[in-house]
Amino acid sequence: MKRSLTVILWIAVIISGAAFIIRPKADEPVPYPDGFRKWTHIKTGLIGPGSAGFKSTGGFHHIYANDKAMQGYASGYFPQGSIFVFDLIEGIEVDGNTAEGKRRQVDVMMKDSLRFPSTGGWGYEEFKGSSKTDRVLSETGRTGCFSCHTKQADYIFSELRD
Ligand code: HEC
Repeated sequence: MKRSLTVILWIAVIISGAAFIIRPKADEPVPYPDGFRKWTHIKTGLIGPGSAGFKSTGGFHHIYANDKAMQGYASGYFPQGSIFVFDLIEGIEVDGNTAEGKRRQVDVMMKDSLRFPSTGGWGYEEFKGSSKTDRVLSETGRTGCFSCHTKQADYIFSELRD
């Protein structure tokens, strides 16, 4: 009797431990994408002074993808752990030549369906300038990211070129 009680107790401990480990960590934000400059560069865009988006997103944006996201381009579906970075740098124009200035922000999308079920399985984050800790997105801001990205197949705009 005493032995079966011990067994039951152990089973309870194991089940609650497993539940703790596999519990979706919904309250954990998207981490800073350390080392993204060494990931695969997908493309670069330039939003110039003539664009309506210049004030908010003007300058060069370089888009990077981690290895998981690269697997997604190959298979047609981005796996869990895929991360994309939108690295926004000021564009400084002098005599028709546009050079890079300071970093404006780093936008991140990370696929984790358990953590971010309400935004298509992708978490959205924005880091100010070159800071790895200064997060600037409110809940409304996050909904804004999602509602625009939702137009795309699996939420990603950038296509891979040769
Ligand atoms: C009005 C539409 C719109 C909104 C709002 C928007 N994005 Fe995007 N995003 C785009 C477009 C378009 C691209 C592709 C840019 C290009 O092709 O040069 C893009 C690209 C990206 C990428 C690279 C992966 C991809 O889809 O190509 C990331 C990461 C990203 N955005 C994050 C964010 C985050 C974080 C927010 C919210 C702060 C956000 N975006 C808000 C339109 C939007």
